[in-house]
This record gives sequence, structure tokens and C-alpha cells, in this order.
Amino acid sequence: MTAFSAAPASGDPHLPRHVAIVMDGNGRWAKKRFMPRVYGHKVGVDTLVNTVNACMARGIEYLTVYAFSSENWKRPQDEVSGLMGLVHVAVARYLRKMAQDGVRVVIVGDRDNVSDRLRAAWAEVESTTRHNTRLTLSVCFNYGGRWDIAQAARRAIADGVTAAQLDEQRLSAYMAMAHAPDPDLLIRTGGELRISNFLLWQAAYAELLFTPCLWPDFNEAELDRALADYARRERRFGGVPAPAPMTTAAH
Ligand code: IPE
Ligand code: IPE
Ligand code: MG
Repeated sequence: MTAFSAAPASGDPHLPRHVAIVMDGNGRWAKKRFMPRVYGHKVGVDTLVNTVNACMARGIEYLTVYAFSSENWKRPQDEVSGLMGLVHVAVARYLRKMAQDGVRVVIVGDRDNVSDRLRAAWAEVESTTRHNTRLTLSVCFNYGGRWDIAQAARRAIADGVTAAQLDEQRLSAYMAMAHAPDPDLLIRTGGELRISNFLLWQAAYAELLFTPCLWPDFNEAELDRALADYARRERRFGGVPAPAPMTTAAH
């Protein structure tokens, strides 16, 4: 969806309906402890599960996380295979509980060049949780914002959409994140001040929040700080501030 408006379904305009997170800093977190980078990713999975629970407890409807980028294939082979292996560990350990808790999981990304085993795991995760509605967790894996825009255009053209018909709304319907409203709050942990090819299209009017906290250290207090910061922001979507309410002049 690309309607540039906040749509607080919970009724609280200060609560983001959709939070997106670049879960960065696992490698540095592990290095500080003289541990292999993959250990940081392993602890990062637990942080993700805790964050899903914390978001549900606060009434957030959509959580989208960046788990593996189109560019992360450049990493050493042992780290890449460690990350793939962790997916299976996470599914075995957490899928059942998440499904019971009402989490719908959607995998967002290019499934063409991942292993058959991983594709099968994604299919299992999605089919097990497809009827859930409490929180939608989108896991961006082998994902890039540029990939998404390109694949949406390709699929639209393959469907026979003409150049004249291909406006923002039409293209949005083909994007891999079409099941969710645009993110309201985009958090990046790990201290880097960049987007790294995450949600390029959808984050057009997201409020950005960068924290030095390394992802495995992210917790409820960090989440609440981010939500409090968001609640103080004024979102204008290109317009002007809403006029202050009229007060009756005292005589
Ligand atoms: C983010 O943590 C997780 C993935 C990219 C899979 P990093 O592995 O990038 O951690 P740092 O940035 O090197 O500390
Ligand atoms: C972004 O982190 C990708 C994920 C968190 C999955 P990176 O660590 O890959 O980003 P760069 O390389 O610092 O930009
Ligand atoms: Mg990183």
C-alpha cells in the first residue's frame, strides 16, 4: 500500500501500526565476546522472538524485519551457511509457539536462488500461520528494495499492465510487501546511518530511528524508547502542520 497516511487501527495515533527493523550489529556483538559471528546471529533470533512478543503486547499489528539482504551473499561461506542453518533451528524451536500466539508469518524476498530445503521451510511457516491475524511478521530474506521494485514491474508487465496503467498504486499491488500498510516507524540497530536496500519504496514517509544498540542487546526498554520517540514526531506527509485547536479568548 502506498497511501501516504498513518492508519492507526488500534485507535491510538501515537502507536505505529507497522514497525520495520534492520536488525544490525550481530557480528560486532559476538566479536566483543570473542565469539564467532554466527553466535551473534543465533542470539539475534532470540531477540527477534522477544521483540515479536513485545510488539504484540503493545498492540502493534505489523512487524517487518530485515534478516538477510540480497547483498549478504558476499559474506564468507561459513557465515552464509550458518545463517541458512539458523532458519531451520528457529523454525523447529519457535514456529509452533508463534502460531499458537496468533502470529502470521510472511516471507518476503527472492526464493529463486535459495535451497529447496529453505523454500520448503518457508512454505511450512507460511501455511502453518496463514489464518492468524494478531500480528503479521514479515521476514525479509534474500530481500532487497531494488529487487522488489524490479520484480513488481516485471510481474505487472507479464500480466499485461500497460505503460499508461502502471501508476504507483498499480505497481504497489505487485510489490512483495503488498500485504501490509507502509511502515510507520523504521528502526535500525547497530549504529549505521543507512538503509542498506531495505523497503526503499515502502519507507517513503516512515519515521526513521537509528540506535547504537547492537541487535542482540535490543529489548523492551529499547523498543519503548523508540515508541516514545515516534509518539513525539509530527508526521506531515508533505502537508503543513494541523492548525492548533481554537481556544476561547478570555475577557
Ligand atoms: C546483521 O548483523 C544481521 C545480518 C546481516 C544477517 P551483522 O552480521 O551485519 O552484524 P555487524 O553489522 O557485522 O555487527
Ligand atoms: C543490513 O545489514 C542487512 C540486514 C540487517 C539483514 P548489513 O550489515 O548487511 O548492512 P551494511 O553492509 O552495513 O550496509
Ligand atoms: Mg551489519
